[in-house]
Amino acid sequence: MNTLLFSIKRFDGKHSWVQDYRLPYATDTLLGCLTKIREQQDPTLNFTSACRHAICGSCAIRVNGSAFLACETQIDDLITTYQSHRFVLEPLAHFKVIRDLVVDFDPVAEKEKNFKPWLIERDDRHDHLQSQSDFHKIAAPADCIMCGMCASECRELNYETGNYPGPFILNKVYRYLRDSRDGAHEERVHVVLDNDLWKCIHCQQCTTKCAKKIPIADEISFMRRQALSMGETNSMGARHAYSFYNDVRKTGKLNETMLALHTEGMYKTLKNRIPFAMRMVVAGKMNPLDMPRPIKGIKDVRKLYEFSQTIQKED
Ligand code: FES
Repeated sequence: MNTLLFSIKRFDGKHSWVQDYRLPYATDTLLGCLTKIREQQDPTLNFTSACRHAICGSCAIRVNGSAFLACETQIDDLITTYQSHRFVLEPLAHFKVIRDLVVDFDPVAEKEKNFKPWLIERDDRHDHLQSQSDFHKIAAPADCIMCGMCASECRELNYETGNYPGPFILNKVYRYLRDSRDGAHEERVHVVLDNDLWKCIHCQQCTTKCAKKIPIADEISFMRRQALSMGETNSMGARHAYSFYNDVRKTGKLNETMLALHTEGMYKTLKNRIPFAMRMVVAGKMNPLDMPRPIKGIKDVRKLYEFSQTIQKED
């Protein structure tokens, strides 16, 4: 295979179409290929880039439906991953498209301001000193380059219709929440709670795709634990978490019947789940009278619970 085929989703502000471009195979980055296409074949092709070193975050696009930084993605790696020399290139998902592979970050940047992504001075100190261990708590989230790949991969994000701010804004909230110099800890937790903090489904795609390997899904879990420790109980997300936690501690496994009841309440469960539950019972996949008994290794499960609590205290 001596030819690379790029099927690029084009958009001129009104119409969209897919245009094919061919390049002779050569070891190069994806950004290098896009640059060759623009310089040698089609000067109207729009994409953005600046640093070429995975620092500015401006070159993120989707290849075959998954987000990549074009400047650090080797064509040879894509060939190995997809076992093909043909690639479908699209702009990041969830963002408004301006032209071709260029998306508009401005509305998201505006939305981000609602989360106050800046230090809010503490009442009890006015310096900016920070210990090494305190700095380590914010070192990873502060690495974010705002490339938008995590947002593009997020299964729950919808900037147009939902409140959920998505991974990189939540990462920014976490970065200030963990900052020893910040004085708005509780306010920040309340703001994310009011903006669908429980919506994340732990698919981990944000963490997997992050160009800087920031554990964003773990950060979201941390903020949920903070919310619970501040007394958050009155939401489906909190009830779901408590039910999950208590079930597994009690028996070592999940009681799905009780999980639905605890999470949604009796009325909603009866209304929404009964037809499905009946089908499960008829198919022999569920017995509502069969209450789970503790599994053989339950003592080890409980030790894990105790251990996780010591980690949280040290955190
Ligand atoms: S060009 Fe800056 S991150 Fe790719």
